[in-house]
Amino acid sequence: MASIPKQKVAVIGGGGNVGASIAFALIAKGVPAEVLIVDLSDKAALGQALDISDASFTMPGTCRQASFKEAGQADVIIVTAGARQKPDEPRSNLIDRNYTIIKSIMDGLQPIKSTAKILLVSNPVDVLTHIAQTTSGLPREQVIGSGTYLDSGRLRNTLSDITGVSPTSIHAYMLGEHGDNQFTGWSSARIGGLPLLDHPKLLGLDLDSINQKIARKAYEIIEAKGSTYYGIGMCAAIIAEALLNNTSQVFPLTHYVANLGCYMSWPAAIGSSGVEQSFDVKLDSTETKKLDIAVKAIKEACAKYT
Ligand code: NAD
Ligand code: LAC
Repeated sequence: MASIPKQKVAVIGGGGNVGASIAFALIAKGVPAEVLIVDLSDKAALGQALDISDASFTMPGTCRQASFKEAGQADVIIVTAGARQKPDEPRSNLIDRNYTIIKSIMDGLQPIKSTAKILLVSNPVDVLTHIAQTTSGLPREQVIGSGTYLDSGRLRNTLSDITGVSPTSIHAYMLGEHGDNQFTGWSSARIGGLPLLDHPKLLGLDLDSINQKIARKAYEIIEAKGSTYYGIGMCAAIIAEALLNNTSQVFPLTHYVANLGCYMSWPAAIGSSGVEQSFDVKLDSTETKKLDIAVKAIKEACAKYT
C-alpha cells in the first residue's frame, strides 16, 4: 500500500463542481497531500473522491471521502459549499443562502485544529471570509479567501495577449472585491520593471473596457456553460500549495486589511501561518474612488450578516 501523505487538505463542498476541480488540481499538480472530500451529499462526495482517487496513482497526493469532524483537523480547509449564480445574477445575491451554509459548516468542523488555515471560495467570497473568521474562532490571519486571484489571472492573460509578454511576467492585480466592484490597479501594474501603462501596446487603449471585460468574464462563462470551475480549481490549488509549503508568495486574496478595517481582496504574502504581510498598494485618485465603493459594499454586507 502507498504511503499516506502527512499534510491534509479538506474540501468542503467537494461533491460539487468547484470543490472537485480544486481536489483534482491538487492531485494533478503533484501536491503531496491527503485530499479529503466532504459534502452535505454523501453520495456526491463519494463519487468525486472515488473518481479523483483514480487520477492519483502516479502522483504523491491521495484523495478520499471524509467527515466534517475529520476535516476540522486538516491543515488547510477549503470551503466551496453553497449556492452558485444563475445567468446574469451578481455574486452578492448569494449571501442570504450562503451565509447560513457557511455558519453551519463552521459549527460542523469544530473543534478546528488551532494551526489550520481556512480558504473560502464560496461566493460572495469577501463577505463569507469575514463570516467564516468570526464563526470559526481562528485568528484573522488564518482565514483567507481566494479573492481576486482568479480575476487577476484573467487580467494577466488578457494583457499577455495585448503585449506579447508571458502572463507570469506581468505584475497586475484586480483589486477590492471578487464581485462587480472589482477594479484594475493600473497605476501600480508593472511589466519588466516598466509601468504597464508605458508599454507601447497599451497606449491609447480603452482601459475601462478591459476592466469591464475582466469583471464580466464569469458572467460570460456562466451564460455559456452554467458555472465556472476550472479556473478557480487551479487558483485555489496554487494558494493551498503556498500555505502548505510556507512559500511567502504574494497573491491578491481576501484577507483582513487593517487600515481599511475590513476583509477585502488585496495583495498579501502567505505561508504556513496564514497571512504574513499585507501590502499598502498605492492607488491614483480614480482607483481610490473605486476602492471606496468596494469597501463600502463589503462593510455594509458584513454589518448586515454578523
Ligand atoms: P455546485 O452546486 O456544483 O456545488 C456546491 C456543493 O455544495 C454541492 O455539492 C452541495 O451538496 C454542497 N453543499 C451545499 N451545502 C452544503 C453544506 N452545508 N455542507 C457541505 N456541502 C454543502 O456549485 P459550484 O459550481 O461548485 O459552486 C460552489 C460555490 O463556489 C458557489 O458559491 C460559487 O459561486 C463559488 N465560486 C467561487 C469562485 C471564486 O472565484 N471565488 C469561482 C467559482 C465558483
Ligand atoms: C468566477 C466565480 C463565478 O468565476 O466567482 O469568477
